[in-house]
Amino acid sequence: GAPFAKMVLDLNLTQAKPFGVLIVSAGWAEGGSSLHYSDGRSSRLSLEKTFSRSLKESQCLHMLKHLHNGARISVQMPPNVEGHWVSTSCEVRPGPEFLTRSYSFYSNNTFQAHQFYYEDNHCTRPTYTLVIRGRLRLRQASWIIRGGTEAEYHLHRVQMVCHTATVAKELSQRFNRSCKGAVKGPWEPSVVYELWSEEGGYDCSRELNFAMHELQLLRVEKQYLHHNLDHLVEELFLGDIHTEPSQRLYYKPSSYQTALQNAKNHDHGCVACRIIFRSDEFHPPILSPRSDLTRCEVRPEVLFLTRHFIFHDNNHTWEGHYFHYSDPVCKHPTFTIYARGRYSRGLHSTSVMGGTEFVFKVNHMRVTPMDFTTTSLLNVFNGNECGVQGSWQVGVQQDVTLTDGCVALGIRLPHTEYELFRMEQDAQGRYLLYNGQRPSDGSSPDRPEERATSYQMPLMQCSASSQGMSIYPHRPESMFL
Ligand SMILES: *[C@@H]1O[C@H](CO)[C@@H](O)[C@H](O)[C@H]1NC(C)=O
Ligand SMILES: *[C@@H]1O[C@H](CO)[C@@H](O)[C@H](O)[C@H]1NC(C)=O
Ligand SMILES: *[C@@H]1O[C@H](CO)[C@@H](O)[C@H](O)[C@H]1NC(C)=O
Repeated sequence: GAPFAKMVLDLNLTQAKPFGVLIVSAGWAEGGSSLHYSDGRSSRLSLEKTFSRSLKESQCLHMLKHLHNGARISVQMPPNVEGHWVSTSCEVRPGPEFLTRSYSFYSNNTFQAHQFYYEDNHCTRPTYTLVIRGRLRLRQASWIIRGGTEAEYHLHRVQMVCHTATVAKELSQRFNRSCKGAVKGPWEPSVVYELWSEEGGYDCSRELNFAMHELQLLRVEKQYLHHNLDHLVEELFLGDIHTEPSQRLYYKPSSYQTALQNAKNHDHGCVACRIIFRSDEFHPPILSPRSDLTRCEVRPEVLFLTRHFIFHDNNHTWEGHYFHYSDPVCKHPTFTIYARGRYSRGLHSTSVMGGTEFVFKVNHMRVTPMDFTTTSLLNVFNGNECGVQGSWQVGVQQDVTLTDGCVALGIRLPHTEYELFRMEQDAQGRYLLYNGQRPSDGSSPDRPEERATSYQMPLMQCSASSQGMSIYPHRPESMFL
């Protein structure tokens, strides 16, 4: 049978707009130089207390420990981006578009960025490559995005190389309609064509909704893996891409994409890094399906979270645990949400290859504030809008079903979401569950037409029993991290 039955689903209730406010005040305190996340002992202890019972035997505990004991991470302010940075896996952008990135930043403030695009979700069949050259100038530390630095860029030229005759023909016809300047004759594969240049007098990159606004927000992190001074990993986070392709030309990033790693200082386990590093526009990287899961997820509005789900196939109900943090390595918990409800499985997606449509309902929810700031925020809300007014305490859970959710967290019950899922096995045979990317504007996909066309980082199946139906946290039937 389809393994889907034992998997779980993400329901993402988190709109979390109000937390933008918290982040701003935190950002002020941060000041200039380098920010160290400490070992976060207290948060780790409370997490372990809560979960050790249920996770004891599962891979999840190991992964959580890894996440929380993980290497010491420092955020470099201002970031030094000089060097060559590459994707760590096949990335998915809304559309969907599948790509890998290889970006070089030079000491004279210029950059050269390769974006390799693919037909398939494993990045095994390259279609075309964009080569983007320009200049980058760092500005001030971001006031909105903690640890982020704002930057300005200026493009010098954008070139394209197609990798198959079919793609070359299709794209040249497309540009011949929308952007005559670029097409002087039929296009060939492995030939460089100009989409835009300072001298050219035309801009065909718009046809692709192309923009490099991701360069407007940067963050560099350094960490020593496994406490080993010889194993430095440097990561470059760039701004997120709007989920609506037509908005990309105007959108200013408010979150990050999956990080690139420094080609010199990357995780030794990253096979994709090495393949991408060696590639160029005439030899695009060809990956094999695999996945690296070592950090928590990034959401618009700068929420960092891990998710655990249980999915009851027998009665079509689900339960989800959302653990929110203020930092990207998930050491400082801010609040947790427990939610449950029903789901129904729909048809195979006609717009996204390999996807299946689902509808989720949430009708029950509990919230636990995990730090002082969140607790205060919940306590200042008046009326019956989030549990019992003024009664919130750090670490104490409250049921907010009776107040129809929690306005302070932007969640109203009952709530319905239109979702997109895909299931896959990685190279180690583990099941990975992909669900839809959240809309960039912070809204939730509560109408069918808002269903995602790209995926978030996958959840991993930690355990699955064939029949056991006991409810988490006593004996998890299946969970994801
Ligand atoms: C900047 O440096 C790069 C790499 O050394 C070089 O290829 C490029 O021509 C330089 N650009 C300018 C404008 O000096
Ligand atoms: C571009 O379009 C014109 C007609 O508008 C056509 O004559 C020409 O062959 C086309 N060129 C290519 C390369 O498709
Ligand atoms: C659905 O099934 C699960 C597992 O058997 C059970 O724990 C849960 O209480 C059921 N939910 C409802 C609403 O019946």
